[in-house]
Amino acid sequence: MSYPAHVPSSRLVCSLVFAAALLAALAPGRALSRELDVPYVPTPQVVVDKMLELAEIKPGDVLLDLGSGDGRIPITAAKTSGITASGVDLNPVRVKEAKENAQKEGVTDKVEFREEDLFETDLGEATVVTMFLLGSVNLKLKPRLLQLKPGTRILSYGWSMGDWEPDRTEMVEGKPIYMWIVRGENDRAAPAD
Ligand SMILES: C[S@@+](CC[C@H](N)C(=O)[O-])C[C@H]1O[C@@H](n2cnc3c(N)ncnc32)[C@H](O)[C@@H]1O
Repeated sequence: MSYPAHVPSSRLVCSLVFAAALLAALAPGRALSRELDVPYVPTPQVVVDKMLELAEIKPGDVLLDLGSGDGRIPITAAKTSGITASGVDLNPVRVKEAKENAQKEGVTDKVEFREEDLFETDLGEATVVTMFLLGSVNLKLKPRLLQLKPGTRILSYGWSMGDWEPDRTEMVEGKPIYMWIVRGENDRAAPAD
């Protein structure tokens, strides 16, 4: 029996289905919703530990890592201090990896990772904000960081925040960690660069 010319043969249909399945299997992950502002470079664990030490984390603190990569900062905070921590990253591959790491480390009840743009995410209840970004990205975030609750600690690895003087600067293996403590009205009056 022969089919009309416009009906694809079963062999062609099988080939198309196979090609589609192969492409799906080879695809590295979902596409990014937009270009990343910062490439992925993990913070060395010795620096993560120092950032958390500088933050003087206490019960009730809520940590947020902006651009959370494989989740090491929120996961370490939850493991060592038992606090609630979260991270946002625009890259779905990183978010998946962070969730898997949280599972491996047994802290899924304390940490949350979301695929979100750090410029749009709700900084909400955060009392400790960590960042390993870029100077230009820090400066763009500064006006929103200044609105955080007084007492909130902001820690940045490697990059400062223009003329906003840090409360602490600590060098680890030749690179700085900066920490600012939000003071409320005084900080809010500071220029946002
Ligand atoms: C230098 S890595 C730091 C990763 C992690 N915080 C750490 O310390 O190991 C920067 C991260 O920011 C993420 N990123 C870049 N632009 C972003 C954006 N607009 N919103 C959310 N995440 C972003 C990247 O995917 C990357 O994982």
